[in-house]
Amino acid sequence: GLPMPEPFKIKMVESITLLPRPQRTARLAASGLNVFSLRSCDVFVDLLTDSGMSALSDKQWAGMLVTPQAYAGSSSFYALEAVVRDLMGFKHVLPEHQARRCRLFRGRAAENVLFSVVVAPRPGCYVPNNMHFDTTEANVLRCGGRPVNLAVPEAFDTAAPAPFKGNMDVAALEAFLLDKGREQVPLVMLTVTNNSAGGQPVSMDNARQVSALCRRFGIPLFIDAARFAENCWFIQRWEPGYEGRSIASIARELFSHADGCTFSGKKEALANVGGLLCCNDDALYEQLRNLTIVIEGFPTYGGLACRDLMAMAQGLREVVEEAYQDYRHRQIELLAGLLRAGGVPIVEPPGGHAVYVDAARFAPHIPTHQFPAQASGLGGGCFPSFRALTAALYAEAGVRGVEIGSSCFGHTDPESGAFVPARLELLRLAVPRRAYTDNHLRYVAAALLRIYARRASLRGLRRVYATPLLSHFTARFEWI
Ligand code: F0G
Repeated sequence: GLPMPEPFKIKMVESITLLPRPQRTARLAASGLNVFSLRSCDVFVDLLTDSGMSALSDKQWAGMLVTPQAYAGSSSFYALEAVVRDLMGFKHVLPEHQARRCRLFRGRAAENVLFSVVVAPRPGCYVPNNMHFDTTEANVLRCGGRPVNLAVPEAFDTAAPAPFKGNMDVAALEAFLLDKGREQVPLVMLTVTNNSAGGQPVSMDNARQVSALCRRFGIPLFIDAARFAENCWFIQRWEPGYEGRSIASIARELFSHADGCTFSGKKEALANVGGLLCCNDDALYEQLRNLTIVIEGFPTYGGLACRDLMAMAQGLREVVEEAYQDYRHRQIELLAGLLRAGGVPIVEPPGGHAVYVDAARFAPHIPTHQFPAQASGLGGGCFPSFRALTAALYAEAGVRGVEIGSSCFGHTDPESGAFVPARLELLRLAVPRRAYTDNHLRYVAAALLRIYARRASLRGLRRVYATPLLSHFTARFEWI
């Protein structure tokens, strides 16, 4: 057929400017070579995250303007509850916000409420997940639990274009549950798509098997649903029996396998802020609701303004539209294809919300952990290729990506004190929804190809400052 354009036209624009190279270099140095510390006005194309970065639609803005503001029982809550019940099928729906709740921790609200209720009363318990995202992992740890990642082995083979590399290793989960028993495992989580391993989808069959296993053991299954619709698009494309099905009906089936979900509305509610915590169990809901009232807000607003609830309600309807999802994946494939054609090693197949460059294969001359002697006090010494690549991309073109590797997921072994690197060293180029055009992505690809051409000259980084939890946000580095 014809090459399909974006299923929208643009009504409002935001100017972006490319700083001259000397200024980029200076800003980067001042940031401690950590792009999280840059000001966004100094960034030209910002692919740090797809979270909270969507362009809102006219219908979202219209709903935000007309919805009445109310502390309790707002119509925006009921609109949101209706669409969530329709798409996800859960009986209970709690809106939650994501703002930092106290000075010490980034309290991802929905995760924080859930884990405070189900994990905190059982110190030392385990939370298996195909793969935790960084904040989820931190919230489990903070509540005294132990996060366990049980992704299928293919997840770690970045070059293999196998489908559904986001799957949970069902045999490993079964062995784990047999070993620990339900007393030590208050819940199992399934992250769709698997953000930490390349935005890879989970198959319906895998969700079904994980669900059956959890039911056999009497353990609730929660979906981390941040990118559920992108996941359902992959199921529609790749999984036999789902070809003719709508994204919405696939989503309903996917959620029917779970007892609840956490959901970041900053991704696939196409909103700038907000989240959800949903479940079916009445007794659990009562506990979650009560804690939400204490730490977030009344259960019909959960710490959000009513206009934010309205943006989520409308965004959830738009995100399951076929034309939108087709466009979304076409754009990711465009960026992936340009990089692939230029020989840049990327995670194959490309994920749903980002292209992940395999930094370990991009710059194999930089070892993951160069200076073990420097590990003491900093939780590791050297964080090389991925961070170097992230820094180099900003210096080259004003493009901000994010490292998903050892700075994010590496940790110090509590017993030996040795630094344990992450299993994957990735530079993630997350594409905000509906915000950038194909030309922006062509620019990003061209910049990365230029760096690839002189990759042998990339140097590693030494980490000179790190906090104990979620250190990557504030860490500082030096070139080696
Ligand atoms: N779960 C997953 C899979 C995520 O990717 C994120 C956030 C969260 C939970 C937390 O949601 O930000 O609304 O509190 N991921 C962003 C990212 C930040 O860049 O991938 P939140």
